[in-house]
Amino acid sequence: MTPILLTVYPDECDAFGHLNQASFLSLFERARWEMLRAGPGMDIFDRTGTWPAVRKTVIEYHASAFPGDVLRFAQDLTHVGRTSFTTRQVAHRVRDDALIATAEFLFVCVNRQGRPVSVPREFHEFMAARRRDAGEVQRLTVNGVSLAVEVRGDGPAVLFIHGYPFDRSIWTHQVAALDGWSRIAPDLRGMGQSDAPDLGYNMETYAADLAALLDLLGVDEVVLVGLSMGGYIAFEFLRCWKDRVRGLVLLDTRAEADTPEGKKNRDAAAATAREQGAEAVAEAMLPKVLGRSTLAGEPATVERVRAMMAATPVAGIVGALGAMRDRPDSTPMLPDLAGIPTLVIVGDEDEVTPPAQARAMADAIPGASLVVIRSAGHLPTMERPVETTDALLAFLDGLP
Ligand code: MLT
Repeated sequence: MTPILLTVYPDECDAFGHLNQASFLSLFERARWEMLRAGPGMDIFDRTGTWPAVRKTVIEYHASAFPGDVLRFAQDLTHVGRTSFTTRQVAHRVRDDALIATAEFLFVCVNRQGRPVSVPREFHEFMAARRRDAGEVQRLTVNGVSLAVEVRGDGPAVLFIHGYPFDRSIWTHQVAALDGWSRIAPDLRGMGQSDAPDLGYNMETYAADLAALLDLLGVDEVVLVGLSMGGYIAFEFLRCWKDRVRGLVLLDTRAEADTPEGKKNRDAAAATAREQGAEAVAEAMLPKVLGRSTLAGEPATVERVRAMMAATPVAGIVGALGAMRDRPDSTPMLPDLAGIPTLVIVGDEDEVTPPAQARAMADAIPGASLVVIRSAGHLPTMERPVETTDALLAFLDGLP
């Protein structure tokens, strides 16, 4: 894909010589038109009687640009819906490759009366081809934090929410296998390849990040699939946006809040992370998160899980521990989940959230079913991926 090169002119700069904000916006806009000029033509919207009206803009300024600087603009499509699409643009300075700014623009296509209309097919195809070129992992900024998000496939949306201290790779098998569904698997703030701010971790914020992510992707309704802490976040999401949830899968999680003893353990683990780093946390957790069958017979999985946990930023570990310590009890909401088709999955060797707890949770949710995955611990998606994916597929296929 050819990047667009644009030069910064003196009249676009402020009294100190920096490219000013208004000019940044117009350069981003010019880069988009240039992209169309080199593709389906700048008159594509006129031709189809639609106009892309910008609805939301998020710009992050990373470094100053000065007169004479040549900026290289790359642009990806991060979502195409029926009437809306989102583009992400990144500007680097050619001379030293410095990252100058990143921006996301959400557009809705409207007709001359201002009513939403379908995104022109030609444009959709042009952008979809660019998206395929760009790969499937995107960076999207929500609530001021840049998240790494894998988005794959078309169809009704499934949102995968990983646990602690993991990342989206726990869903690799499921994301690859669920054809016919739009699979959205983010790294939560503080984990994987997402930004890890020092502050701002609680269940409300994790859930708000996900809601904002869905908005950005133009997705209204989802099936939530949450593992462990991902389940705690799913409960929080349901508290705020229940009407967006068309199905729920809870893996190796619990509805109860932490006990007083559990809260003390969170603080002790946070101290370990601060003083000894993520590797020490990973070593302590490994024997708990994997089942005895995996620990004894699946060395490659053991190493993958160890490496994933050890790579988690300390800020994200400490933040997640505080968020889990302070989360509310979600058991009172379980009977209210009647009407949301729910599947509970648990590994039969899970000692963090054992099968008895999963069974009690499934019993408390009207109509929920339970699948126990054999020879798996707390991470059945990685320990027994085929069986877990099959259970998930059977549930999704049966959704109304
Ligand atoms: C997780 O897997 O997300 C955590 O182990 C959950 C917890 O510690 O409560």
